Parts: sequence; structure tokens; C-alpha cells
Amino acid sequence: MTVVQAERIPRIISMTNQVGGSGKSTSAVNLGAQLATWGYKTLVVDADDQADASVALGYMNPDALEGQKTIYHCLTEKDTKLQEAIVPALAGPLGADGTKPIDNLHLVLGSGEMENAEQHLTNTMNREMWLKKLLAPVKGDYDVIIIDCPGSLGLVVIGAILASDEVVACVKPGYKELRGLTRIEQKIELVKEEYEEFGAHAELTGVLLVDVPTHRSQGAVWDDGKKMAQDAYGDLCLPPVRRSPRIPESYAHQKVLIYFDRAGDATADYMAVAKGLGFKRQK
Ligand SMILES: Nc1ncnc2c1ncn2[C@@H]1O[C@H](COP(=O)(O)OP(=O)(O)OP(=O)(O)O)[C@@H](O)[C@H]1O
Ligand SMILES: [Mg+2]
Repeated sequence: MTVVQAERIPRIISMTNQVGGSGKSTSAVNLGAQLATWGYKTLVVDADDQADASVALGYMNPDALEGQKTIYHCLTEKDTKLQEAIVPALAGPLGADGTKPIDNLHLVLGSGEMENAEQHLTNTMNREMWLKKLLAPVKGDYDVIIIDCPGSLGLVVIGAILASDEVVACVKPGYKELRGLTRIEQKIELVKEEYEEFGAHAELTGVLLVDVPTHRSQGAVWDDGKKMAQDAYGDLCLPPVRRSPRIPESYAHQKVLIYFDRAGDATADYMAVAKGLGFKRQK
């Protein structure tokens, strides 16, 4: 008797902010690892030319992997399927002693060549649909798909929003940073209005404050920032991620927090973020 595996219906979540260095990649990989540990089949899509999500999940230089496709090949080559750019996420650097794949966590390899993506997309038909089309044949294999977006509001990000059900805006606390979130909200609305007929339906479902100082001496605005976020975004505010030196350290070691510092504060914070988004350990 053949057992046919039922198609999954994933939650597709874009981690966005047009501002660079706002914790998108850190949050994409650590939320992804937490969900995978809880039993969700999870795919992280590295859509940024800095390829930070790929680095954090074990792949220091994806473009140098011989014969391996990346997201850029999928974007630019008609016959390359997204499946060919999917690799197991690793709990350590590729090729290092003892590095193992993380159960339930896959990665669409990023590429430095994505810096040419905007230019490529400009001359492409249905350019805003690029990621939705690529994801269509693989999405039934996953419970959650997390897209790590570049820090811009160009065609790559529009494509990510169009492919998503949800957008989580990552932001460092501060007046300027929080004000910038209005632009993301406007962009989501714009994409929904313009592409409704193509199924655009993403909602802003979370505002995630990251790198939140734990002492007033680390920044005069830290609790003001939290209050501002709360005032402006209310229930959308996810549990914040505290400032922790373990976060840049874990990136430098190419290990997600749950493998780098399992009992640490930052790991606990990302677990709280996962709960805040309504996820829980699967039986
Ligand atoms: N909670 C935290 N505590 C300390 N450092 C943090 C924290 N969160 C993020 N960082 C650091 O802030 C920097 C930016 O984070 P990250 O790369 O995740 O942002 P990003 O939004 O993906 O940036 P980009 O727009 O460049 O892709 C990194 O050096 C990261 O290690
Ligand atoms: Mg990033």
C-alpha cells in the first residue's frame, strides 16, 4: 500500500525592515531553529545578498559551492527549480568536525549575486511574483517558511511580501527606528491593494524589538522605545529580544543560539518570540 503524504499548508512569514542591521537575519535563523526544534518542518529563505542567514546556518560562502544552485540561479535561470537551492541547515560551519544538520530545518541558499536581483527583476514579466512562483512547488513540504529579506523596499522585498501570509517587522528600539516602521506598513498595504487579484494578502502580524538594552546605562531610550512600540503597535508587539553578546558570537561561530547557548537569555527570548507568534511544541 502506498501512503500519500498530505500536503502541508505553511505559514509564510517575511522578516522585514527597509533599515539595515535591524535583526532580520538573526531573527529569521533563530526563530527557524526554535520552530524546527519544536517539530515544525521549517524552511528559511535567504533572499539577501549579504547571505547572512546562510552563513548563520553553516554556509560561509554559498557561491563557492561547486555545482550547488542558489536562490540567484532560481531567480535568473528558467529551468532551475527552488528545490535545487534547498540544503539542510547546519548546526555549525560546513565541513567542520562534528557539524550536523538541524532536524526539520532547511535553507534556500543565499547568494552575493542577489545584489543584481533588482536589475534582473526590472526586466522580467510579472516580476513581483518571483518568489511566490518559486515557492509554489515546495511549500507543501513545510509547516513554516521564513523569508529573510534585504534591508530595502525594492522588488525583492515586494516579491517576498507578495509570497507571504505574514510580515514581522524587526526593529532596534529608538525613535527614528520605530518611525521607519510606518513605511513598511504602507508598503504592505500598497502591495495588497495592487496585487489583490494575484492573491496578495500579507498582514503585519508582529513588531519585534531586538537588541533591547537591559540597563538604562546602555541607552537612555530603551524603555521609552518599548513604550513607544507598545503605544503604536499594541498587541502586535512580540516579546522583545534583549541585547546579548551571545548573538554576534553565535553568528561568528556559525551556530544558531539553540546550539550555541541553549540555556542563555537570547535563546529564551527567541522561544518567547515563537510563542508570541502562536507556535508551540508539536506533540
Ligand atoms: N539582541 C541582540 N543583541 C546583540 N546584538 C544583536 C542582537 N540582535 C542583532 N544583533 C546584531 O546586530 C547586527 C545586525 O543584526 P542582523 O544581521 O540580524 O540584522 P539585519 O536586519 O539582518 O541586517 P541587514 O539589513 O544588514 O541584513 C548583527 O551584528 C547582530 O549580531
Ligand atoms: Mg540581514
